[in-house]
Amino acid sequence: MTTFASKPAAAPQNTDPLTLIDVDHVRFYVGNAKQAAYFYAQCFGFQVEQIADLTTGWRKSAQYLLTQGNIRFVLETALTDDHPAAKECMLYGDGVKDVAFTVFNAEAAWKQAVKNGGKSAMEPTEIKDENGSVVVASIQTYGRCVHSFVERRGGYAYDKLKTGGTFAPYFKRVPQFALNDYNLKHPCGLKFVDHLVGNVELGGMNRWVEWYEKVLGFSMFKHFDDADISTEFSALMSKVMASGNNLIKMPINEPAEGKKKSQVQEYLDWHKNVPGVQHLALRTDDELHSISELRRRGVDFLAIPETYYTQVWDRVNKMLTAHGHTPVKEDHQKVKDLGILVDADDEGYLLQLFTKPLQDRPTLFFEIICRRGSQSFGKGNFKALFEALEHEQERRGNL
Ligand code: FE2
Repeated sequence: MTTFASKPAAAPQNTDPLTLIDVDHVRFYVGNAKQAAYFYAQCFGFQVEQIADLTTGWRKSAQYLLTQGNIRFVLETALTDDHPAAKECMLYGDGVKDVAFTVFNAEAAWKQAVKNGGKSAMEPTEIKDENGSVVVASIQTYGRCVHSFVERRGGYAYDKLKTGGTFAPYFKRVPQFALNDYNLKHPCGLKFVDHLVGNVELGGMNRWVEWYEKVLGFSMFKHFDDADISTEFSALMSKVMASGNNLIKMPINEPAEGKKKSQVQEYLDWHKNVPGVQHLALRTDDELHSISELRRRGVDFLAIPETYYTQVWDRVNKMLTAHGHTPVKEDHQKVKDLGILVDADDEGYLLQLFTKPLQDRPTLFFEIICRRGSQSFGKGNFKALFEALEHEQERRGNL
């Protein structure tokens, strides 16, 4: 028997209600969750683990829980036209709706965020059955996105979820999904969400930077202006916000004036001029393995001009030796063959690569990132990357 209650019982108190334990899950609104699940399983190696739909007694939508490492995606599709996912898919296409955080006490976190000036998107709601309960409360962030605070109890506790436990009431294990076995035998090596980037409207970046500071207690981690992130033709500005414990980093981009259209503006043009999540960066410990496996599975990555590799090793290894670090240990030829980008800062280096859009609209994409000391975002690659992006924008007639 499952019941809903708007007032959950008291949970253990933590001194700061906005302490974030983890990225509980990222919820996507998609046009057809059954088919999207297959795409993310085939291309990115996710386990299609659990489902809540008509067959499990959940009649509002179909939700698929996909997992890999400590990454949890919920792909949700509307079953009726009055479900919010129906309208949002019509307006924005497939994309991220909710970046949900696990907290100790969802009601306390939500109350604190609202007290700090956040706007409520959903009051604390408890959903429970004989196994335990999950309390969710949400606040509105930029554009169409929300942050949910998720509190887990009993059989749905966070430590159980992390080791394969049930996600929430109404979710049931997917009994048979052929790709699951295949994916266990051929892992892509994606571990967790490293960062998550939002695109906001021109002039909106600082407002949202302040919002993350004030409402969620985040602080600024890095700052890039259009001098850092521009080519001859297009530009953007970006500030990276980080949660108190650096659990999650959330760069916020806004378009900047250039001779041609900024990639952020292209996103907004195809997203009804409403801010949203531009990319999710998924962390791996072995970039070469992950990219080679993802390419084998048919993931479409941005193509980096070959000339990039004539300068990159000099640039990166000079920076590393200047700060007393060992040079890039990955095989240089393999890095080039796989089209991977490399960058370094005073703390070390990183390897990264970006997919093309994951759906037909030029909106959401993934980054696959491996950090070897560096905590930055690949500033040295911005120019090469933006030129590759401009090439894609041109192909779409959007530059
Ligand atoms: Fe990124």
